[in-house]
Amino acid sequence: MAEEAILGYLLDNEEITDSGQFSDEHNLNHDEVVNVIKRLHAFRYIDCQNIKRVSSVLTDEGKKYAAEGSPEVHYFLAVPAEGSISKDELQKKLSPCDWKSKTSVFRIGSIYAVINKWVEGGKQVSRKVQHVEDKVKNLLLQIQEGMEPDEESLNYLKTTRRLVEEKVWKGYSVKKGPNYAPKRMSFATDLSRENLQNWKELEFKEYNFNAKGQPVDAGHVHPLLKVRKQFKDIFLQMGFEEMPTNNFVESSFWNFDALFQPQQHPARDSHDTFFLKAPSTTRELPEDYVERVKQVHESGGYGSRGYNYDWKREEANKNLLRTHTTAVSSRMLYALAKKPFTPKKYFSIDRVFRNEAVDRTHLAEFHQIEGLVCDHGLTLGDLIGVLQDFFSRLGISNLRFKPAYNPYTEPSMEIFSYHEGLGKWVEIGNSGMFRPEMLLPMGLPEDVRVIAWGLSLERPTMILYEIDNIRDLFGHKVDLGLIKRNPICRIGIE
Ligand code: PHE
Repeated sequence: MAEEAILGYLLDNEEITDSGQFSDEHNLNHDEVVNVIKRLHAFRYIDCQNIKRVSSVLTDEGKKYAAEGSPEVHYFLAVPAEGSISKDELQKKLSPCDWKSKTSVFRIGSIYAVINKWVEGGKQVSRKVQHVEDKVKNLLLQIQEGMEPDEESLNYLKTTRRLVEEKVWKGYSVKKGPNYAPKRMSFATDLSRENLQNWKELEFKEYNFNAKGQPVDAGHVHPLLKVRKQFKDIFLQMGFEEMPTNNFVESSFWNFDALFQPQQHPARDSHDTFFLKAPSTTRELPEDYVERVKQVHESGGYGSRGYNYDWKREEANKNLLRTHTTAVSSRMLYALAKKPFTPKKYFSIDRVFRNEAVDRTHLAEFHQIEGLVCDHGLTLGDLIGVLQDFFSRLGISNLRFKPAYNPYTEPSMEIFSYHEGLGKWVEIGNSGMFRPEMLLPMGLPEDVRVIAWGLSLERPTMILYEIDNIRDLFGHKVDLGLIKRNPICRIGIE
């Protein structure tokens, strides 16, 4: 209604000078008119200018005096024409209940009746004049009727008596805008069948390519899974096959013994490894291979002197949560050794468990990335070459190697890379060539060498996503918002 009134008026008239006046004349609500003005302005149907009017209105106290008369006149009238009256008497007469209040008729009346020199103050009060005029009331009535009194009186009512205040009124003056039309076209917003049928008559709303879409209410992939996918892709590009890792529970035999890790090794202590209560032992191991493993631990063979201790089957039978995915590698290599040999490249990325003190960078469970290559006559040079190829695909080209120790590899190397952000060399993985004491009891040909390496998935993920507390990445304290908001992983792109 207001829209038609405004556009219609502008068809024959140059300008709406005052939206307030316009509203009154057209019997419209001014707030509604203002809304329409803003909308038409946004579509450039009209141009408009702010106008502001300041007017004087009565405060609640002012309204009261305009209706009932000023307190000073009430005070004056309560004083007898002849003689005097005590203050206490006056108080009872004028403000029997609220005389203590600073705004009581008695209090205010006494102040201004004295200032106006209408009465004589003190304990006894008497009149000084016989007739007074209620100027305050008359001024207030004038203002109520829309007349402006002289500046001095207005100031007195505003600042000294606070009976009048300013009210700011805001409105608009309105003229035709560049897109003016007597009637506003409404835009079609949908490419519906109907709209496409009468497209000639319609005006379509422009596409807003900057508008944000509805947030998609869907599942989100955890950062660890995104980074895992990237590592998996790298292994697949390099021609590696994935090993089956679907057994968190493993026997000590495959996790340690098959890897030539002696039974007294500190890692095999319950302080470092979670052993299972039920079922506490494994049901089945390949007996002839177990015998060869026992032999190599106790007395060696294949050119080794062994560890020279009494190897116990019960220790090998104990079930545990695998402490590394190298347990998977040992099973795979044993399976490979049973068939006529073919060179293989294997990888796995899955969860491992360690009985560790939990802190900012350690949890009792994490994920390991593991790769291995087995072939005739591989050397340490091949290991270094494969590692350089692998890490360069992650965008890491500057590698250094440091001699290390693992019970199942010889030689062993820790892998370091220079971290630009931290300005130092950081350890990024562990590697080595599996020992003959591990490979030969399996039955692999004598000249077959296996090069292998492992790293955690959490560490590169934390670096990529700038997370410095592992508990923000994994476990029950993880903020689901992080998973919803995190960007896709960008391994290797600097
Ligand atoms: N198993 C080692 C670890 O848990 C990693 C590794 C794998 C080292 C293969 C050498 C060879 O840290």
